[in-house]
Amino acid sequence: MKTIAVLYGGKSGEHEVSLISASSIVAHLDKAKYSIVPIGITKKGEWYLQHLPEWAYTPPEQGLMRSLPEVENAERVVAVPGDGLWLETENCLQNLNIDIVFPVLHGTFGEDGTVQGLLETASLPYVGADVLGSAVGMDKEISKRLWLSAGLPVVDYISVNKEDIAEENFQALVRKIETRFGWPCFIKPACSGSSVGTSKVNHPDALKAAILSALRWSERALLEAFVEAREIECAVLGNDKPVAFPPGEVVPSHEFYDYEAKYKDPNGALLLIPAPLSEETKNRIMSLALSAYKYASIKGMARVDFFVEKITGSVFLNEINTIPGFTAISMYPQMCTSGGLQYPDLLDKLIGLGLDQYATRRALEYDFSKV
Ligand SMILES: Nc1ncnc2c1ncn2[C@@H]1O[C@H](COP(=O)(O)OP(=O)(O)O)[C@@H](O)[C@H]1O
Ligand SMILES: [Mg+2]
Repeated sequence: MKTIAVLYGGKSGEHEVSLISASSIVAHLDKAKYSIVPIGITKKGEWYLQHLPEWAYTPPEQGLMRSLPEVENAERVVAVPGDGLWLETENCLQNLNIDIVFPVLHGTFGEDGTVQGLLETASLPYVGADVLGSAVGMDKEISKRLWLSAGLPVVDYISVNKEDIAEENFQALVRKIETRFGWPCFIKPACSGSSVGTSKVNHPDALKAAILSALRWSERALLEAFVEAREIECAVLGNDKPVAFPPGEVVPSHEFYDYEAKYKDPNGALLLIPAPLSEETKNRIMSLALSAYKYASIKGMARVDFFVEKITGSVFLNEINTIPGFTAISMYPQMCTSGGLQYPDLLDKLIGLGLDQYATRRALEYDFSKV
């Protein structure tokens, strides 16, 4: 029996999505193999031990969308450097004896390497990408640079910060866009998610406001050529020998896959799993997904997102998500299931991969006095 801490909630805008992802994971974990310690993170970032609802112990009903209750701030959990997770009770600390942590935290402060760094410091194994892979996956500019250096196809982009939109630099930026890709163009924060701060800009007059809106979420914004494209996603699983599953497709009913389409509009998008693609395109996407995973230095899992241009059929890597949505209707678990790996087996695999990663790092030498 392994003790697994499921970390969820958190400070990011995806707090509520995390409650649903974590419920799905908790419902599908095999209770004969794992003792679950649910740790909820408040929107302020404090960690508290939670109690699982009754339904967590009953077999999950197919496709049911449940949410864990809002995080209750009762007994605080602390990470102790070199010594795991402890529960703060009235006048003492009690070791929670965690074997592995499953961070189910989407976006900033959870998917970006920060929590992974804390877990490394506390000497705890965890599921998913390490500090480096998480940080790379969170940063759309850095991941694109790595992919470009490996010769992988990405949409042309310009990275800007607040200096680039200052009065004296702005016209030069407009000229640069017009030389490189023109209008419409697409603006997004370099490090964010859920389509917040993104917009399609049809005219230079709307450019500054769009960039300012992206810069509310990240210190850098990316300006990209607007691609009229199908949106294809591919699940990848593994450490040094990752496997890719047959891709799925998201068909947004909006102008693009915006925040409303993702979370607010129940008819915001249609999910097609597997995606209707030619054998050739499917294979190309699976092979590009594996290269993208490798060059971004990801371990554990990731959902690699692509654009397939409607007119030309050209394939572009868009972004990589190291803690993708895990709700019963999310793409990642559904693509794995459709590819033959059932949800509880996927969780076993992820836990095994996290333990393997930890063992690999533990086997490295750090003490120079032995040299
Ligand atoms: N260059 C682009 N051209 C056209 N649409 C885009 C482009 N980049 C992003 N989008 C649209 O915006 C959505 C969100 O952008 P994405 O880069 O995936 O960031 P996020 O991390 O917020 O999901 C995409 O799913 C797509 O619908
Ligand atoms: Mg996306």
